[in-house]
Amino acid sequence: VSGEHPVDVIVVGSGVVGLSIARELGRAGITTSCIGPGHDGDGAASAAAGAMLGALGEVTAGAAGEPERDELLLRLAAAAAYPGFVDELEDETGRTVARGSGTVVVANLVNEQDRANLRAISATAHEHGVRVEDVDPDEVAGLNPARGYEAVGACHLPDEGWVDTSELLVALAYAVRTGERTDLERATVSGIRTDGGRVVGVELADGTVRGASTVVLAAGVAVQELLDGIGEPVGPLPGLLPGKGVSIRVRAPELAVPHVIRTPNRDFACGTHVVPRGDGSTYIGATNRVSATPGAGPGITPGELHSLLNSAIHEINTGFRTAEYLTSCFGLRPLTTDHHPLVGATAVPGLFVATGTYRNGVLLAPELARVVTEELTGRAPHNPFRPDAPFRRGRVRREEMLDAVDAGMRDLVSFLVEPGGHLPYNRHRELRTFLQALGRGAACGGDTAEFRRMRELLERYPIAEMVPQVFYEITTDRRPA
Ligand code: GLY
Repeated sequence: VSGEHPVDVIVVGSGVVGLSIARELGRAGITTSCIGPGHDGDGAASAAAGAMLGALGEVTAGAAGEPERDELLLRLAAAAAYPGFVDELEDETGRTVARGSGTVVVANLVNEQDRANLRAISATAHEHGVRVEDVDPDEVAGLNPARGYEAVGACHLPDEGWVDTSELLVALAYAVRTGERTDLERATVSGIRTDGGRVVGVELADGTVRGASTVVLAAGVAVQELLDGIGEPVGPLPGLLPGKGVSIRVRAPELAVPHVIRTPNRDFACGTHVVPRGDGSTYIGATNRVSATPGAGPGITPGELHSLLNSAIHEINTGFRTAEYLTSCFGLRPLTTDHHPLVGATAVPGLFVATGTYRNGVLLAPELARVVTEELTGRAPHNPFRPDAPFRRGRVRREEMLDAVDAGMRDLVSFLVEPGGHLPYNRHRELRTFLQALGRGAACGGDTAEFRRMRELLERYPIAEMVPQVFYEITTDRRPA
């Protein structure tokens, strides 16, 4: 490999994760080159981020497994260390990075899960000794929902904050560009070079090559394509999917408040959140479209803008209706097929990954940087999210699939009746239960009691009128024993 100036490490990716890693490696005395197309292009997750430093705001009811707990602990550690991280970055670069603390989580009746999630957030905060207080929604500055969308509960997390992502990215890029042992190259990495099974560098889109004995892939969801192109066994590794998120910025000085106002997580996303920006504007986020759902492709759809604005105006502050619209953007969150971050050595000597941060990349970036730096300096960090972590091994269990179906169908029904809709009577829950039963049956190849009963009925009475019978047997739980 003919790299002009071979370095110890190449970090691929110039978003908040890649930049944080390169900076941290440089600080540890490792000569590092960070290569990426910049952090402001279409699809760059970092630029589209809020960024709430949401350690507790991201808690959802019922997420109780060991990896979920480990991830919560990682978020809490990251949140506690964040002020120090930004202080140091400011000192080092002479730049300011706007940030603030305070997050108000509000629950309303638009989403059935809101209250359970709000309770889970409060309980988790108490359990981990993080300050939290219930507040009267009427007393929350900046919260002024429309009639019919009133909050029915709210809690204040005074220590859970936000950071201005644009200013953070500028400061991080400056730190890497000017660092004694680091440099930043604006280029797209198109492939990883190996020799005799180990990493020797990367190839850029223009065909030139950069040499390094260690490569860290920190390019968000783009890591998947790079891994696919290597031609060496890298794994087993979970796959990466793009979770497209759309966000907008508005200017409304009379509505600007110094804290985050957000709903709990909802319907496959972070819910609606409004976050202050350093220039006095207000960030509104965010949608989430994964995989082949409409709107998952590149670009921003009217439907995404509509759902964001509809929710922000009705659920957070009707004043946004007349705010000055500034801009919108989208980013691709890196989501692993096991839903957890992915950081550490792959099976290819010299090749590391740091991605899979999904909705928490800005918050987790310094922690990923710490883990990678500790690994590369011979310390053995506590890292529950390494590629070969025990929870990642083995076949997908039946219960895992059933849990995914149950949560997915619940959120799907809730998502389908948005914006602001609901079904009459108890139809919402009936539909959810029915779809869960169908999904569970499909996921298990028909091997469930509900599926067997449905087949039995339809074999005996192959008429459309049997479908409501099946529906009520399943949803009212009046199945024959
Ligand atoms: N954490 C905010 C989002 O992913 O939308």
